[in-house]
Amino acid sequence: MLTDYLQACERGLEPLFAPQPLSAVMTLSRERLVDRPHGDLPRWLAALEALPAGPAECALDQDTLTIGGAGEQDEETVKQALQGLIPWRKGPFAFFGVPVETEWRSDWKWQRVAPHLSPLAGRRVLDVGCGSGQASRGLEPHFQHVIGTDISLRQLQAAPASATSFLATQAHQLPLPDTCVDLITVAQAFHWFDKTAFFAEAERVLKPGGVLALVSYGLCDVEGLEGIVRAFHDGPLGPWWPAERADVVAGYPQAQLHWPALHFADTTIKREWSVETFIGYLDTWSALVQAARAGQSPLAPFSATLRTQWGPQTRTVHWPLRVRAWRKPRPH
Ligand SMILES: C[S@@+](CC[C@H](N)C(=O)[O-])C[C@H]1O[C@@H](n2cnc3c(N)ncnc32)[C@H](O)[C@@H]1O
Repeated sequence: MLTDYLQACERGLEPLFAPQPLSAVMTLSRERLVDRPHGDLPRWLAALEALPAGPAECALDQDTLTIGGAGEQDEETVKQALQGLIPWRKGPFAFFGVPVETEWRSDWKWQRVAPHLSPLAGRRVLDVGCGSGQASRGLEPHFQHVIGTDISLRQLQAAPASATSFLATQAHQLPLPDTCVDLITVAQAFHWFDKTAFFAEAERVLKPGGVLALVSYGLCDVEGLEGIVRAFHDGPLGPWWPAERADVVAGYPQAQLHWPALHFADTTIKREWSVETFIGYLDTWSALVQAARAGQSPLAPFSATLRTQWGPQTRTVHWPLRVRAWRKPRPH
C-alpha cells in the first residue's frame, strides 16, 4: 500500500519538481516509510485505514486546517481513527467536523503579531524554523513573498503546497543576499538556534528598518485549578523535557539584541474545554513521547486526578503569548 502511495506521489509531483531534488525526496521517503519504518507506523496505518475514504473539501488557508464538513461522516468513527494518530503536534485541524487540538498552535502566533505590523504590501518576510509552514502560510495574504526556512527537510516536505518558498537550512546560515527581507519571524523555534550566530545572520539579511520578532507561548493554566498543570509539567514530566524547554516557556527573557526593542504587552489565549479535550491536548506533549520511550506513562495518573477535580463542566484554559521584537536601525 505504501509503495503504491509513493508511486502515486512521485507521478503527481513530477511536473512540479526538477528530477534531482524529487528523486532525493522520494528515496528518503521510501527509506523512512518502507525500508526502515518508524516503530509506530503500523498503528498510524491502521488509523488511516479507519478514516473515511473518498473525496472531501479541504480548506488549508484558514486558522484551522479543515478536511470535510460536519455530518458528512460518522463522527464516532472519525474520532476513533484520529485517536490512533495521537500525538498530534502541529495544528489545529478539523476532520469532518471533529476538532483536533494540538501541542503547537501556529495560528495563535500569527494572530498575535499581525495587528502590530504597518502595511505590508510589496514586503518580503522570512519565517525561520518554519517547520511544516503553518505560521508561514498565515503570513502569505499579507506579504508579496514569504520564505520559510527550517533545518529539517522532513518538516519542509510535510508542508502543503502554498505560495511560501521553502529552503532547508540552518537558522544561522541563510542562503540569502544581504538586506533582502523586511521582517523575520521565529515562531516557537528560537530556543533551538545558535543564538549569537543567528542574530548576526538576521542583521545581515534584514533591511535597515526591518523587524526581527521572536514569538512564543508558555505553559497553560486552568481556571479554578490554578497550578495543577505547572505541577505536572515541572514534576512528573520534568525529566522528559529538553533543557531548552524552560527558555521557550518563559518567553525568551534572556534574548538580547543591541537594537531598539519593540514592546508588545503580553496577551492571553483562551479556550473553553472539557476535561477530555484538555487531556487529548496534553497527550500531544513531546515529553510524554520521551517518557513512553522509557516505558513510563505519567499522563494516566494525572488524567485520573484531573477528571476528579475538573468536573463535568467546561473550564477556561489560558496560555500566555509573548513577542520579543527589535527594529534594525536605519543608517543616519
Ligand atoms: C516547535 S517547531 C515550530 C515550527 C513552526 N515555526 C510553527 O510555529 O509551527 C521548531 C522548529 O525549529 C526547527 N529548528 C530547530 N533547530 C533549527 C535550526 N538550528 N535552524 C533552523 N530550524 C531549526 C525544527 O526543525 C522545528 O521545525
